[in-house]
Amino acid sequence: MVALAGSRRIGPARRLRGQFRLPGDKSLSHRLAILAALAEGTSRFGNFSTAGDCRSTLACLEALGVGVTLDDAVSIAGRGPGGLHAPAAPLDAGNSGSTLRMLAGVLAGRPFRSVLDGDASLRGRPVERVAAPLRAMGASIVTTGGRPPVTIEGAALAGLDHTLQVASAQVKTAILLAGLQADGRTSVTEPSPSRDHTERLLPCFGVPVRRTGRTVTVERARLTPFDMTVPGDPSSAAFLLVAALVVPDARVRVDGVLLNPSRIAFLDVLRRMGGAIRVGIESDDAEPVGWIEAETSALRGIDVTADEVPSLIDELPILTVAGALASGTFRIAGAEELRVKESDRIAAMVEGLATMGARVEEHPDGLTIEGGPRLHGAAVRAHGDHRIAMSLAVAALAAGGGDTLIEGAECASVSFPEFFAVLDRAVGAE
Ligand code: S3P
Repeated sequence: MVALAGSRRIGPARRLRGQFRLPGDKSLSHRLAILAALAEGTSRFGNFSTAGDCRSTLACLEALGVGVTLDDAVSIAGRGPGGLHAPAAPLDAGNSGSTLRMLAGVLAGRPFRSVLDGDASLRGRPVERVAAPLRAMGASIVTTGGRPPVTIEGAALAGLDHTLQVASAQVKTAILLAGLQADGRTSVTEPSPSRDHTERLLPCFGVPVRRTGRTVTVERARLTPFDMTVPGDPSSAAFLLVAALVVPDARVRVDGVLLNPSRIAFLDVLRRMGGAIRVGIESDDAEPVGWIEAETSALRGIDVTADEVPSLIDELPILTVAGALASGTFRIAGAEELRVKESDRIAAMVEGLATMGARVEEHPDGLTIEGGPRLHGAAVRAHGDHRIAMSLAVAALAAGGGDTLIEGAECASVSFPEFFAVLDRAVGAE
C-alpha cells in the first residue's frame, strides 16, 4: 500500500488511554455565530469549534458584512439583520449543510439577492426541504434541480405554521431564523425530536421561544449579544469513546463535553451493546455539560430502530464500527437520511467494513452486520466524508492483520481537525 497525499495509515492499537478536552461543539458554534450576527452588539465565544464547517459559516458571515475576530475566542460584532449587506460573490458554504441551510433562513428575510453554494458533496445534497417553507413565507428561492447553488431574493416575510416531513434540525433552524424576521408567528412541528440547540440558545439572545410538544414557536425579535464558552463536541467524542470500547486495555475520559440529550443517544445504544460508559453532568445553564468515560468492553449486537435515528444521526457511522466488532447481529433500520449526508453513509460504511472483512448486508434504509471474525487491515476510502474517515480509523485500531490505509482521511478536518493527533496521543500515551 502506497500512502497518497491526504491518506492516513493506521495500525492496530494494543492499548488506548487519555483524558481529553475537545474543541467546541460544531452545531452550537454554527448557531452561536449566526445568532450573534443577527444581534445588536458584540458576542464572544470561547472554545469555538475549530471545524472547517464552522470556518465556512464565519467566512460567509464576513462576506455579509459581519465583523468577525479570532483570538483566544471568536468575537462577532452584529448590527442586527439590517446590518447584513449583499455579498459581492456567491457565498461558499464549503462542505457544510448546516451553513447553507441555516443561512438560507437568514437570507430569506434580507432585501437583496444572494447565492449560496458549496463543494461537490454539498452540490449533491437536497435543499428543497428548506427552500419550500422559505418560499411559503415570501422569499423567492431558486435551486439547481433541488440542490445548490441556491439563489435567494429576500423579501418581507409572513409567519408560517410548518410541519417537517423529515426530522431535521437544520431545516427547523432555518425556518425559525426566517421567523425572527417575519410578521406574525412562525411555528415548526417535527415528526420526531431533532437536536434542540436553536430553541435553547434563542432565549440567551433575548428571544422568547414557546415549546409545546414537538412544536416550536417564535415571533419577530431583536437579538441581544451573548457570551458563552462552547462545550466540547460529543459527536467528536463519540470516535474516542467507541475506540475505548473496542481496543484492548483502553480507558478514555472526555471532560467539558456537551451532554444535551438530543446529542448523546449514542451512549444509550453503546450501553445497550454492553459498553462500560459513565457520564456525569457538572453544569446545566443553556446546555448540560460534563464528562464521559469509557473502557474496553465486550460488545453485543442490537437493533437500532427508526425512532432513535434523528438523535443518533451523526453517530450512526461510528456505531456501525461498534456493531462490526460486536458478537451477534447488529442492525440499523429507518436511516435512509444517511444516504443524503456528506456522502451516502450507508454505502460508504458497508464498503469500508466489508473491505476490512465484516459480514455486512446493505438495505435501502440501513444495514445488518453479523459479528464474527475480527476485522483485518485493508485499503479503504473516506469518500470525502469526515465521519467516514474517522469511523474507519477507529475500525483500523481494532483490526488485526496489518495496517489500514484510509484514502482521503484528511477530510476529518471538516469537523475535527485535531482527530489524528488526539488518536496518536491516546494510542501512544503511557
Ligand atoms: C445538524 C443537523 C443534522 C446533522 C448535522 C448537524 C445541525 O442534519 O446531521 O451534522 O447542527 O442542525 P439534518 O438537520 O439535515 O438532519
